[in-house]
Amino acid sequence: MVQAMAFRSNDFMDKNILKNRDGKIVIAIDGPAASGKGTLARNIAKRFGFVHLDTGMLYRGLGHTVLKAGKNPENEKDVKSVLDDFLDKLSEKTLSNPELRTDESGSAASKVAALPFVRDALLDYQRDFAGKQSDEVLGVVLDGRDIGTVVCPNADIKVFVTASAEVRAERRHKELLSRGVETDFETVLADIKQRDERDSNRPVAPLKPAVDSYQLDTSQLNTTEALGQVIDVIRAQLVKSASTP
Ligand code: CDP
Repeated sequence: MVQAMAFRSNDFMDKNILKNRDGKIVIAIDGPAASGKGTLARNIAKRFGFVHLDTGMLYRGLGHTVLKAGKNPENEKDVKSVLDDFLDKLSEKTLSNPELRTDESGSAASKVAALPFVRDALLDYQRDFAGKQSDEVLGVVLDGRDIGTVVCPNADIKVFVTASAEVRAERRHKELLSRGVETDFETVLADIKQRDERDSNRPVAPLKPAVDSYQLDTSQLNTTEALGQVIDVIRAQLVKSASTP
């Protein structure tokens, strides 16, 4: 009972601070594959009534389009040949295609994501995301690899989510099995390590924590515990910004 009351008064305080701010609050969540950043971002959005953009779906969408066209996601010419059409059709609907969740799309995503012209082409869509929301939306959460470093360097809150490669592979393996995808743990681990390597070592917008990010290792945390830690960070930041003129 006491806890429920405390929760409600916190919600009230959060809403008031958010309403009195200039502009929407922007939260950047970055991290490697299967670190839990997507679930965390979705849960934050749900908790505070914010809108969420999973930026990985943009790269997955493009990677998938390249594969569908029978082309090579590592070949610049091949990717350029489908890019304009992909951008023209880009919408929440095209990004909700379940085929984008497969490992093939993930791997193609990480290949097209290493091409600088692809990153440039997708930048505006991500940066415009907050501006496109109605006035009632008090905040946005974007998750990806370079949100805090490149896409939204001025984000109000930046979180960098990590977990060991083995823990991440276990999670991804379970998730794939639950979706009926037949695969073994070793293959998933190898894919995760390969993607980490590619994402961290590319010259443009590599996966790395922003210097001003809060680092969260979820290896030993469940989704509720991870959310709880980040809610504390968000509240502390809200209170601080409300009391600084
Ligand atoms: O869900 P998971 O962590 O496996 O991957 P994702 O977030 O859907 O991203 C798929 C791929 O897109 C990543 O391996 C990155 O190479 C790329 N990506 C990126 O480069 N920058 C982003 N902001 C988001 C994704």
